[in-house]
Amino acid sequence: MSNSPRPVRNVAAAVATSLLAALAGCMGDAPQSTLHKNSDLADMTWGVYMLVTWITLAVGVVVFALLAYVVFRFRDRGEEGIPEQVHGNTRLEIAWTLVPLALVVAMAIPTVRTIFAAAAPAPEGAVKIKAVGKQWWWEFEYPELGVTTANEVHIPAGVPVAFEIVSADVIHSLWLPQFGGKRDAVPGRTNHLTFTARDTGNFVGQCAEYCGDSHALMKLRLVVQEEADFQRWVQEQKAPAQGDLVASGKPGPKAFLEGGCIACHQVRGNPIAAGRIGPDLTHVASRGTIGSGILDNDAESMRRWLRDPEGVKPGSLMKLPHKLSEQEVETLTQYLLELK
Ligand code: CUA
Repeated sequence: MSNSPRPVRNVAAAVATSLLAALAGCMGDAPQSTLHKNSDLADMTWGVYMLVTWITLAVGVVVFALLAYVVFRFRDRGEEGIPEQVHGNTRLEIAWTLVPLALVVAMAIPTVRTIFAAAAPAPEGAVKIKAVGKQWWWEFEYPELGVTTANEVHIPAGVPVAFEIVSADVIHSLWLPQFGGKRDAVPGRTNHLTFTARDTGNFVGQCAEYCGDSHALMKLRLVVQEEADFQRWVQEQKAPAQGDLVASGKPGPKAFLEGGCIACHQVRGNPIAAGRIGPDLTHVASRGTIGSGILDNDAESMRRWLRDPEGVKPGSLMKLPHKLSEQEVETLTQYLLELK
């Protein structure tokens, strides 16, 4: 490279651009940033992350400083001829074998401890949650609490939660960036994820393993609540849906029956609506989003979804037996928004 200012400017511009791009990853309002940690597991992961960062940074500084020194000190000045040829230096070789070994061991011990802590069996008093990955949504079942919901998982703050992660079809990955690492949902296998959340609030997650057409739209919400609020939520979710019996003769349940919705969706309290293929809709109106976290749960989104599920979510397995009339869309929308 010549010494003209132009290449120097180019290099400076490239370095500045890369730095800006890298720093953009630290933006404050990034809801899926792993840097905003909110669980004991995330703290442990953060510890490993920082340890590895400092060690590799120190190694990098030493290596590049030595490299710069050698490049400068032993550069070809065009007059010395071939320098003295040497081979082997036992002390140096032992040093550059043992030092990296020590560094790798220093990083491996906390890493392995964190991996085992993350997949530990459920501790005493933990809230157990079975998370089932499906194309393209999440089912959450609380086997000890008698609650089944979809795409929105509620947990109490300060209480350990133990996820059992499985898949109903292909490989997915449950990822709650602020709480713990990605954990694959593999058909025929159960993976575990255990953590205790700290602050209350609404958090977002995402399927993190490519699983087909709508992988990018396979989101989820995690709601961390005070223990009392969580218990209230459990009671509400356990209750059957109100006023939705087909026998009531109301237009909503009738449309739900005639539209074929009952083949795939459960509405507890309505014995005919017992399908288990799609999300349980007993309390669908209580959730913040629909379509696996991609649409706000309001009348307009519900209409959009009912008119054309595949238009909202490519490849969606929700196949309507016939295109719903606007009247049917409206009746079903009103009915579903009543299922609080
Ligand atoms: Cu499920 Cu990607």
